[in-house]
Amino acid sequence: MHRKIAVTSALPYANGPIHIGHLVEYLQTDIWVRYHKLMGNECLYFCADDSHGTPIMISARSKGISPEEMIDGVHKEHLRDFEGFYIEFDNYYSTHSEENRWLSEDIFTKLDKRGSIVQKKIEQAYCPKCEMFLPDRFIRGGCPRCGAEDQYGDSCDICGGTYQPTDLKNPRCSTCSATPVRKESVHYFFRLEDYEEQLKELIAGGYTQKSTSNKLDEWFSAGLRDWDISRDGPYFGFKIPGEDDKYFYVWLDAPIGYMASMKNYCDSRGLDFERMWNSGEYELYHFIGKDIMYFHALFFPAMLMGAGYRPADKLFVHGFLTVNGQKMSKSKGTFIKAGTYLEHLDPEYLRYYYASKLSGGTEDIDLSVEDFVNKVNSDLVGKFANLASRSGPMLFGKLGGVVGEMDEDGAELVSKLRKVKDDIIADYEELNFASAVRRIVSCADEANRYVEQKQPWATIKSDEELTRKTLTAVLNAVKVLTVYLKPILPRFAEKIERFLDVDGLGFGDVGSDLEPGHKINKFERLIGRVEESQVEKMIEESKENAAGAKEEIKEDEKAAMEPIAEECTIDDFAKVDLRIARVESAESVEGADKLLRLRLDLGGVEKNVFAGIAKAYKPEELVGKMVVCVANLKPRKMKFGVSEGMILAAGPGGSDIFMVGADEGAKPGERVG
Ligand code: MSP
Ligand code: ZN
Repeated sequence: MHRKIAVTSALPYANGPIHIGHLVEYLQTDIWVRYHKLMGNECLYFCADDSHGTPIMISARSKGISPEEMIDGVHKEHLRDFEGFYIEFDNYYSTHSEENRWLSEDIFTKLDKRGSIVQKKIEQAYCPKCEMFLPDRFIRGGCPRCGAEDQYGDSCDICGGTYQPTDLKNPRCSTCSATPVRKESVHYFFRLEDYEEQLKELIAGGYTQKSTSNKLDEWFSAGLRDWDISRDGPYFGFKIPGEDDKYFYVWLDAPIGYMASMKNYCDSRGLDFERMWNSGEYELYHFIGKDIMYFHALFFPAMLMGAGYRPADKLFVHGFLTVNGQKMSKSKGTFIKAGTYLEHLDPEYLRYYYASKLSGGTEDIDLSVEDFVNKVNSDLVGKFANLASRSGPMLFGKLGGVVGEMDEDGAELVSKLRKVKDDIIADYEELNFASAVRRIVSCADEANRYVEQKQPWATIKSDEELTRKTLTAVLNAVKVLTVYLKPILPRFAEKIERFLDVDGLGFGDVGSDLEPGHKINKFERLIGRVEESQVEKMIEESKENAAGAKEEIKEDEKAAMEPIAEECTIDDFAKVDLRIARVESAESVEGADKLLRLRLDLGGVEKNVFAGIAKAYKPEELVGKMVVCVANLKPRKMKFGVSEGMILAAGPGGSDIFMVGADEGAKPGERVG
């Protein structure tokens, strides 16, 4: 019995081009979908452009076009880029669609009816000149921490600090430079907290990978807060039913866009959308990056459950792309657009490279230029293409292209390769493409060794029929490897199918031999070597000077899961001066429910320290305690005063924070290491 599966990838914003970071996700998903199709399963792949929100509205304005015109243009570009990488959607739609409007209103109304929507008055930054409320990312000013000029309203690119837009020095509207004012407005909120138990149950049932569970626990223990799902006009989005100038926040209708894409597909084919999404007849999976986990692990499933829709069976979360170990950067030329890549390199290089790095976890993946060039040349060209080009042309040119029987060694080789099938299937199923690739490479090594042993180029001079046997075995091995590689390298596989004159190979064909007497076609070149200079040219062309290289503006949401920071050396670490300190006094801080103000004695030197441990320790239990303090931390001005050090404590957060203590006999000021 074949399976029925529906799959989605996150919807890319319609205000910028697809880049090689995005491609991690679309290639991972495409490979998985292709694998299922080749298994004979029915697997439908849905996606769309995420077309709403302030950045898109502003970006269209600055180009002097309507948002509709802009999202149409970007839609075409996105489609062209995806096609260029052989990413095959069953439907690629847009969130700016009637289906999506209908579904968003439907879900909102159902949530409202059961009391999951509340209204609250809030105060926000407002630009009197633009006559609009400003999201954090559209306010710029001096960083309150390090003083750097021209920073975003939510975080500083220079010192990495995060803060409120109200803390900025000389805040201005990033569009018109006017000074924002504070203004009140009534917003709609979704009561996420009401769904805590249901969400916990969903997650306990295996909704996400194990590696995300710490992050989820952290969110649960921090408490689920009401989610602001409305924005005041002017806004590019769907109007909230019954309102004149209030719209759904883009993140409300974006995930509903998965459903809209499916509905559009179903409606145009006379299929039943409700049944496909809701009945359980189809398994349902979302692929996303770790930065948007909060939306997909909490908000979206809660909304679905509240409105009587089925949440997905599973969320597959992947990590972020780094290039040569660092974040993609416009000034370094590593922020490579899909279109630029395609002008220089074969898309199957990247498909292969990403596959060889993706193992199904949430860790970041690195594209190292040197490794990329090596892998492509040694595996793709040196192992896979080579095997075919050593056997096909000889059989075609010298032996009439007619396949024969295999000799004993040959039959043994082929059956050995066939035995790996179940492991490779399991790897694909679990998204461990890296492991599948390793197995396939060792199969190719095995087959290449067989060719070395049999030396067809020598035997062809003396014994044609013996050589036919050898070449037949090699071609049967090629056929098996072609199926294994086909989810990753669809064009490469197609070329081999053409020259082997076999149609549409799938996993079901792994076990069958090419029939003796079968004729093959003329061999066509499969894939070329990649030169490091081509990659360098592409990087050169992607370089934008620092001034033009403003980071793309996303919605004002922070990365939900921070990647591990840049390496620090043991020498860096040794700079940290750790001292025993005695807590002289401790008190809570008004307006900051996580902070305690501590007065520390470091053996004659006194320091004032704000520590984020209020949820874990009571002030009175700390007085007199010996703690470990970073004594040489640069003093930092905070909203509540200057913090002159830091005490060592760690833990997932909330009440689970544990201070590093020292015993009573320790002397304040003593150095510890
Ligand atoms: N529009 C939202 C998603 C809405 S889904 C209902 C969005 N768009 S995005 O264009 O910023 O990102 C689309 C997907 O690409 C996300 O899953 C994101 O994690 C992924 N990636 C974007 N940059 C990436 C890297 N540098 N590396 C790996 N994946 C990245 O978020
Ligand atoms: Zn303005």
